[in-house]
Amino acid sequence: MAKNGRLLLTGGSGMVGRNILEHPLSAEWDIVAPTSRELDLTDANAVNEYVAEVQPDLVVHAAGQVGGIQANMAHPVAFLERNTSMGRNIIMASYQSGVQKFLNLASTCMYPRAAPNPLSEDMILTGELEPTNEGYALAKIMATRLCQYIGREDEAAQYKTLIPCNLFGRHDKFDPKHSHLLPAIIHKVHLAKTNGEDTVEIWGDGTARREFMYAGDLADAVLKASGDIDNLPDLMNTGLGHDFSINEYYQTVADVIGWKGDFVHDLSKPVGMKQKLCATDRQSAWGWSAPTTLHDAIQRTYDFYLNEATK
Ligand SMILES: NC(=O)c1ccc[n+]([C@@H]2O[C@H](COP(=O)([O-])OP(=O)(O)OC[C@H]3O[C@@H](n4cnc5c(N)ncnc54)[C@H](OP(=O)(O)O)[C@@H]3O)[C@@H](O)[C@H]2O)c1
Repeated sequence: MAKNGRLLLTGGSGMVGRNILEHPLSAEWDIVAPTSRELDLTDANAVNEYVAEVQPDLVVHAAGQVGGIQANMAHPVAFLERNTSMGRNIIMASYQSGVQKFLNLASTCMYPRAAPNPLSEDMILTGELEPTNEGYALAKIMATRLCQYIGREDEAAQYKTLIPCNLFGRHDKFDPKHSHLLPAIIHKVHLAKTNGEDTVEIWGDGTARREFMYAGDLADAVLKASGDIDNLPDLMNTGLGHDFSINEYYQTVADVIGWKGDFVHDLSKPVGMKQKLCATDRQSAWGWSAPTTLHDAIQRTYDFYLNEATK
C-alpha cells in the first residue's frame, strides 16, 4: 500500500500511542515513534534537532505526563510545567522546521468545571477549571491555543487539535492504584469470578453517567484525521456522543466475563459529578463516529487483560 509519508508520533509507548501503532491504517504511514529515553520532549534543543533530522510530513502529539487526581494534586508543578514544555517544544520545533501538518491530542479536562452538558468546543476558556487537575488542563489549553494561533497566522499550516473523551482499552493500566473506571471494574469483577464471590460493591447508586470510548476507536479517528487534516475542524471533540450509567458499565463487564452475582450499592461513598458528555456535532459533520460497541470494546479489553496485561 502506498505510504502517506513520514509520521512522527510522540507518546508511542503510551496507551493511546500503542493503539495508534497497532491500528491497520498505521501501515499507510512510515511512522517514527521515539520513546522518552530516545527523545525527551522537555528538552527543547533535542526536540529541535530531532524534528529537523526526521523531517516528518505530519506530527501526532500523543505524549504527556498523565495521571489520576491524586498524582495531579500531589505534583501540580510537574503536571503544569512538563506538559506545557512538551507541548510548546514539539509544536514550535515542528513549525520552525516547516512541518505543515500537526495533530495535537488534548483532553476534556480543558472544559470549565461547571460547563453544561453536552460540552461543545466553544466552551473552552469560558469558566473556572476543575481545581484538582488545573495545571494539566492549563498545559493542554496552551498547546491547543498555540496550534490555533499558528493556523490563524499561517493559512498553509494545518495545526489541529482533537479533544478525546475518557478512554479505555488495550494497553490500559489495570493495577488498582493507577487504573481508571473501566479497567478497575474489569479487575474487580474478574477477581469476584475467580474467587467465587456472590457480590461486588459499587460506590453510590450507580446512576451517574460517563462517556468512555474504546482507545482503538480513538486510534481510528486519529489515523483518519491524519489522512484528512485539511478538512478537520481546528478543534474537535472525539467521543461517543452518548454515555452509560456506572451500573450499565458494571453489568456489561459482568456479561462479558460471565459473572452472575449481584451488585451492592454503598450509598455512603462519593459518586462525583452526575454526567460529563461531549458534543459530537463537529465530529458528525466531519463524518466519523466510533465504530466499536460497548460490549465488543469491553470484550477486547478483557482479552487483553487476560492474555497480555497479566503476563
Ligand atoms: N487515557 C485517556 O483516557 C485519555 C483521554 C483523553 C486524552 N488523553 C490524552 O492522550 C495522550 C496520551 O495519553 P495516554 O493515556 O496514552 O498516556 P500514557 O499511557 O501515560 O502515555 C504517556 C506517553 O507520554 C510519553 N512521555 C511522557 N513524558 C515524556 C517526555 N518527557 N518525553 C517524551 N515522551 C514522554 C510516555 O513515554 P515513555 O513511556 O517512553 O516515558 C508515554 O508514551 C495525553 O495527552 C492525554 O492527555 C488520554
